[in-house]
Order: sequence, then structure tokens, then C-alpha cells
Amino acid sequence: MSNNSLIEVQDVEYRYETRESEAAPAVLRGVSLTVQAGEMVCLMGPSGSGKTTLLNLMGLLEKPQVGDIRFIGQSVKGLSESALETHRLRDLGFIFQAFFLIPTLSVLDNTTYFLGPLGMGAREAKERATEVLEKVGLQDHLSKYPRELSGGQRQRVAVARAVAKKPKVILADEPTANLDRATAEKIVSVFQELRDNEGTSFVFSTHDQDLLGYAQSVYRLQDGKVVR
Ligand SMILES: Nc1ncnc2c1ncn2[C@@H]1O[C@H](COP(=O)(O)OP(=O)(O)OP(=O)(O)O)[C@@H](O)[C@H]1O
Ligand SMILES: [Mg+2]
Repeated sequence: MSNNSLIEVQDVEYRYETRESEAAPAVLRGVSLTVQAGEMVCLMGPSGSGKTTLLNLMGLLEKPQVGDIRFIGQSVKGLSESALETHRLRDLGFIFQAFFLIPTLSVLDNTTYFLGPLGMGAREAKERATEVLEKVGLQDHLSKYPRELSGGQRQRVAVARAVAKKPKVILADEPTANLDRATAEKIVSVFQELRDNEGTSFVFSTHDQDLLGYAQSVYRLQDGKVVR
């Protein structure tokens, strides 16, 4: 493997634990892929094929039962919970399918949420968040709360929150699912700008054929395996 690999997924198998006596079938059954620095990787596959599951594993939210994930050269097996947490804060940005905005915080405060813990001062954090929120077209909604936003606007807050961190890699689960074509293109160009300026990698799942053209690598999940 080249030492430009940020994330290496190696022969990963993953099965959700269930309370039922019979074991659930494995969702991932021997998946391997690599994410290089500055690369955009696209995950496709039908609903239920394991895209979100794979993103959760790459985001160090779960560990594989079989196989390994190497994150910046280190095996996740050897990483403590606090080391995983530090990677999630500093190196990873998440845009979840369900957004996970904080309901009691404004759009602006949701977007600055991780910047304080990352060591950024309040003024700089506010400037950075405002700049990114403008880029995703939310400049008129800074003081609104998530419940006052449309689905596509919430999705863009989740995008802004991840982008504002300037992490090494952003994992985006169907980041344009609720957006019209013009807004989806705006999001993709925010991603590309971050990649060009900061060398950020992206892994995004999508059902949208139009996003494929932006990716350097496309993987399709099928029957627990990945086909390029
Ligand atoms: N927490 C969970 N516990 C048990 N099974 C789960 C859990 N989350 C997902 N699954 C199962 O794992 C499989 C893969 O789910 P996953 O969410 O990864 O699919 P997906 O490709 O992201 O689908 P979609 O395109 O609908 O978002 C599905 O069969 C799903 O029912
Ligand atoms: Mg999903």
C-alpha cells in the first residue's frame, strides 16, 4: 500500500449483533478498499447493501469483527477508545444520513460546534462557520434552529459543520439526497474547493448517477462485497 493511504479497509466482515438467537447474516462479507489523500471515493449500491455500515466503520464508530481498518497507517484494533475519539474529532468529518444536528443550537452554533474543542477561538470559529454557511447558501438562516429548516437546509448545515473542521477526510452519507440539482452542485463544489485547498479526502455514498463524475474511485456494494 502506498503511504498516501488515509484509510485502508482490509477484508472486512461486519455483522450487527441481534438479540434473536439466530445470528443475523453478515452485512459486509470481505470488503477491501483504499482511500488516498485528496481522493474522492464514491460508494454505490442498493438500499440495505451496507453503505452506511461501511461509512461507520471507516469513521471509527464501529470495529470490524473480521479483517482490519488502517487509519493513517494504524490498525484500529490497537487503538484505544480515546485515540479513536481524537481521530473522530480532529481527522474525520461526518455528514450523516440523519444529519444529527443539535436541536437546541442555532445553525451558526451547530456549525461552530467542533471548532472550540479543536482549539479555535470563538471569533475565528464564527468567521469560519459563517463563510462555509454562505458557500452552502444558508447565509440568511444563521440564527434559525434546525426545526425551522427544510430537510435540504438541515442537510446543508450538516455539510457546513463537517467542512468547517477541515478534517483529513469527510465521510458523507448521501450528502445530496434532499437537494435539487443546482444546490447539489453547490455542495460538490464546496467539497472540491476543500480538497484542492486542504487535500481533504471524501467518501460519499449516493444513489445519484450525476455525482459519479466527481469521484476518482467508484465502488459498488452488492451481496456484502464490493465490486469496482
Ligand atoms: N443497527 C442495526 N442493527 C441491525 N441491523 C442493521 C442495523 N443498521 C443496519 N442494519 C442492517 O444492515 C444492512 C445494511 O444497512 P445499511 O444502513 O448499511 O444500508 P445502506 O446501503 O446504507 O442503505 P440505504 O441506501 O437505504 O441507506 C441492512 O440490511 C440493515 O437492515
Ligand atoms: Mg444508508
